[in-house]
Amino acid sequence: MPENNRAPVGVDPFRPNPARVYNYMLGGKDNYDADRDYGDRMLEVAPDTKITAWHSRRFLLQAVREAAEAGIRQFVDIGAGIPISPNVHEVAQEVEPSAIVASIDFDPVVYAHSNALLTGAPGVTPILADIREPDKVLELSREEAGIDFSQPVAFLIVGVLHFVMDDEKPYEAVARLREVMAPGSRLVIQHASISTHPFFKNTSTVQAVNSPSLPEFREPERVLEFFEGLEMLPPGLLPANEWLDARLPATRLVVLCGVGRKN
Ligand SMILES: C[S@@+](CC[C@H](N)C(=O)[O-])C[C@H]1O[C@@H](n2cnc3c(N)ncnc32)[C@H](O)[C@@H]1O
Repeated sequence: MPENNRAPVGVDPFRPNPARVYNYMLGGKDNYDADRDYGDRMLEVAPDTKITAWHSRRFLLQAVREAAEAGIRQFVDIGAGIPISPNVHEVAQEVEPSAIVASIDFDPVVYAHSNALLTGAPGVTPILADIREPDKVLELSREEAGIDFSQPVAFLIVGVLHFVMDDEKPYEAVARLREVMAPGSRLVIQHASISTHPFFKNTSTVQAVNSPSLPEFREPERVLEFFEGLEMLPPGLLPANEWLDARLPATRLVVLCGVGRKN
């Protein structure tokens, strides 16, 4: 991992933070002025960004429901964010009450919120870990959440990989996760697309330099590489609005969504 690893340390209210900006976009209250200022700049160049955030959230929960309906009862949610209802474990447990969730994030603020908000919720374990250290993610998922990788699992990596720069080895990290997936497992990814409106790309990049919110917008072919060796489930890799419903309008921030299955 590079020396300046851009991981949030404690509570830094002065730099925009992806979990809190996303919480702001979803209408949550767990954010600071720096997050709201950054979010408002994004909304100036792309007023429909709150809609994109909700599309992404719907994609995540629909993918969880479909995985649970297919018999998966273990979920490793990496970059889980500040809990917002309905949460991953609620949707999974509606289908399969014994479902368990490792709710992972590298942000101590998220970890604190998860501990406070999810305490007492059966089957969900907040974990502090970084996707750039996949072996640690796997180890803690096993040890703390009781995930058994000899059984099918769904890795949820929604709105996270575009915060991992190429030199931080996102492809190697996801390859390591694919390696341990038992047959029947799923990989659920949402990733910001290069076809996002240029104003959004420029503003979000300039405003986030040196912060954990710095995004990398990738081409669809590069996002597909995360699914190498997996079968893409219908409807394939598509912008969130199209993945959900072809009649939903496009948004300026384009996030690509897809689900792959290990056969
Ligand atoms: C846009 S939010 C998405 C939250 C949630 N996945 C969802 O879709 O509702 C991105 C989350 O990824 C987390 N994150 C970013 N980089 C990460 C990393 N390297 N390892 C773990 N979590 C990370 C952030 O802290 C933030 O909570």
